[in-house]
Amino acid sequence: MRTTISVIKADIGSVAGHVTVPEEILEYAKRRLGEAVETGLLNSFYVTHAGDDLELIMTHHKGVDNEEIHGLAWNVFRGATEEVSKRLKLYGAGQDLLKDAFSGNVRGMGPGVAEMEFEERKSDPVAVFMADKTEPGAWNIYLYKIFADPFNTAGLVIDPRLHEGFRFIVLDVQTGEEYAFDAPDDIYDLLALIGTPSRYVIKNVFRRSDGEVAAAASTTRLSLIAGKYVGKDDPVLIVRSQSGFPAMGEILEAFATPYLVAGWMRGSHVGPLMPVPLRYSKVARFDGPPRVIGLGFQISNGKLVGPVDLFDDPSFDHARRVASEIADYIRKHGPFMPHRLGPEEMEYTTLPQVLEKLRGRKD
Ligand code: F6R
Ligand code: MG
Ligand code: MG
Repeated sequence: MRTTISVIKADIGSVAGHVTVPEEILEYAKRRLGEAVETGLLNSFYVTHAGDDLELIMTHHKGVDNEEIHGLAWNVFRGATEEVSKRLKLYGAGQDLLKDAFSGNVRGMGPGVAEMEFEERKSDPVAVFMADKTEPGAWNIYLYKIFADPFNTAGLVIDPRLHEGFRFIVLDVQTGEEYAFDAPDDIYDLLALIGTPSRYVIKNVFRRSDGEVAAAASTTRLSLIAGKYVGKDDPVLIVRSQSGFPAMGEILEAFATPYLVAGWMRGSHVGPLMPVPLRYSKVARFDGPPRVIGLGFQISNGKLVGPVDLFDDPSFDHARRVASEIADYIRKHGPFMPHRLGPEEMEYTTLPQVLEKLRGRKD
């Protein structure tokens, strides 16, 4: 039987500003998803948060883009907003719920979604990554390292089951067009696009030898949906591992370097993506730095077994220190680019008002 893993997330209210999700919201979501297990809609679930984003990790047999599953997630977000966020006057209550009425699918309505369906192997390990204060294109460099860079993933060279490489599906978030690239053959073309992560976003990765899904990422861009600033998109990612996919350690290896990503304070700054354990899944300095948590599961007979808190390990202490050093250095630039994003990527901007004010002051 095929199993689906769905990760659906939204920022529907947080405590002490945009810092973290309070226990009351997590408890609400657990109760509602627990009811869905009782009715048989879900097989299993895990509820957590990445900074101020509520994360619903669910397994079921309904396939991707399923109306009942998306409807369930939407109702949890709506219910938690009405019954908890508003009552407690949480910050940004209902922030990511951009539409009023649910029409079958949460895509394009605000919440972020990553889903994949597969026939379970003898044993099926997966990793779920969830980031706060950054955008979907932030995964581009990590997915490239994991699935196309032999300096990261030894198996691409020495494991015959990975040696044929992987196919990347890239979405142009401005036009909605999708492109397919095979690695290693097309890596220069692939890099030409995904080097612009604000526009070209890796959506899926498939194994070339048999077309099996290897990774699925969320691709929502809230600012494009709303036409105005409504918070960063804070993406999620599911990656399959082992026996013909990159080993869990090869997947994690990519996160040993805290690459620069867009987001951070006011969605308008570049900063390092810091890998953190769940206990540090809140944002602090300058509303950041941007953070990623990673959870490992086995998918067993349709259910989640786990999680393992993947970045809760001393081997990532150095990455956290490097991220802090980068944060220190880049913060010294204050309002200057390239720390501050370019005008077209900034989520908040006073530039039009400043230019208007200056109009009458020209020599
Ligand atoms: C970025 C983010 C925060 C806020 C910042 C200002 O995605 O959520 O950095 O942009 O705290 O928030 P407001 O405008 O709500 O005061
Ligand atoms: Mg928020
Ligand atoms: Mg967030």
